[in-house]
Amino acid sequence: TEQKQALFTIFGATGDLAKRKLYPSLFRLFKKGELADNFAVIGTARRPWTDEYYRGVVLDSIKDLMRSKTEAEAFAAHFYYQSHDVGDSSHYVNLKELGEKLRHTYKTAGNQVFFLAMAPQFFGTIAEHLKSEHILTGEGFERIVIEKPFGTSYDTAKALNDSLSKVFTEEQIFRIDHYLGKEMIQAVSAVRFANPIFESVWNNEHIDNVQITFAEFIGVEDRGGYYETSGALKDMIQNHVLQVLSLIAMERPAKFDESHIVEEKVKALKAMRQYTAEEALENFVRGQYSAGYFDGETYRGYRQEDSVASDSQTETFAAGKFVIDNERWAGVPFYVRSGKRMTEKGTRINIVFKKDPDNLFAGNCDDEQSPNILTIYIQPTEGFSLSVNGKAAGQGFHLEPFRLNFRHDSEFLGNSPEAYEKLFLDVLNGDGTNFSHWEEAARAWELIDVIRQAWDNQTSEIPTYPARTMGPANAFELLAKDGREWAWQPDLWYRERG
Ligand code: BG6
Repeated sequence: TEQKQALFTIFGATGDLAKRKLYPSLFRLFKKGELADNFAVIGTARRPWTDEYYRGVVLDSIKDLMRSKTEAEAFAAHFYYQSHDVGDSSHYVNLKELGEKLRHTYKTAGNQVFFLAMAPQFFGTIAEHLKSEHILTGEGFERIVIEKPFGTSYDTAKALNDSLSKVFTEEQIFRIDHYLGKEMIQAVSAVRFANPIFESVWNNEHIDNVQITFAEFIGVEDRGGYYETSGALKDMIQNHVLQVLSLIAMERPAKFDESHIVEEKVKALKAMRQYTAEEALENFVRGQYSAGYFDGETYRGYRQEDSVASDSQTETFAAGKFVIDNERWAGVPFYVRSGKRMTEKGTRINIVFKKDPDNLFAGNCDDEQSPNILTIYIQPTEGFSLSVNGKAAGQGFHLEPFRLNFRHDSEFLGNSPEAYEKLFLDVLNGDGTNFSHWEEAARAWELIDVIRQAWDNQTSEIPTYPARTMGPANAFELLAKDGREWAWQPDLWYRERG
């Protein structure tokens, strides 16, 4: 590996995200030699930390990853701390001075990566100051990485984007959707585009419906404060779920590169029907987990969680039906659902194919033919399975569904820390394929805003579902009224592996 040259400036360096994700991912790149001598990190936040104290925090965040103390200390020596109030211009002068010094000491070639690990309301101010205080010099590459949430509605996202766009071009802005760091684009595209047997039937002639499930086992944990202002629709559907949906729905890109893939994803999102308020209520449902009992464990309800209002109407589960008005997908519903405190953790896509309209075997046996289902597993493990009908072993003629299963052995390949490592490397390489682009985010907000507003205007109490179930009854009715059902089977493969 050729080592990368860059100065990283992390805003929000004392925060949880920095400790849990950023420092460990940088360390992983260090262990692999992607980062070696020519990098430095400026951590900045309000607190008055010293370099020494900061390095202690960094060391603590990588303690489970280090092979030796010497190695970890060599890594931490690249970290510097600068106390800073993002609204105060004079502080940027200090940042600039320190940056210039480190640029020479570490030979970072003027390359800079800014990571905004803090509340989005500061993004605009930070970007402006980076420009006005000449921290941006145009010498090397200059890239800015930001976390979700990217706005809380179309309008707020647009305002945020406008403020960043005054300083950075779209190519310089890397909006993290950490699901894209799970190699999802490659994984989904490989199944679809490297197999003519799938791509040739990837349309409304053969596909009956598509089901996308993002199930979480965990509850809201210690994020009640944030989650109360968000809910499942904004937290998961607006970003991760619509990203998956657009990958499944997009046309085959002319080339497998960032600009072509994004172009097709955006087209797919734009072809999605934007509902009226009334249609939104018909096609989307929500729920909130109440106390539940499973496998000898009891789980408290959402309203009993920390920092959650005792009469909260926030949805911890959302499900709905999207339709895409184009030639390929006319008449094929895309059902999506995402929730916390469901039976198990699993992100999966089920492509449910149409059944043979005339059953050749009707006279020989009365077994129903199951639909062929292609399941793409995104996590906890990556892989896919295909269910096909075959003859049951033994005498007589009975049909039986079989599942052809393939899973990667590299379990946890896609879990979050590695996802960040990969994303960091993409940023250093200037590859935005695995990031969310403005046009995608903008369209996603347009689709979501209508649903959110329709729910906000409802006066009825939010439906509930017991913790550790697959969601409220209305999510099952959503498919039942179309004569369908969720094709979800417990993930035995994963369970067997413990
Ligand atoms: C985040 C959401 O974007 O994704 C969380 O804010 C959610 O609420 C998380 O728990 C799920 O990510 P993962 O990688 O654990 O599946």
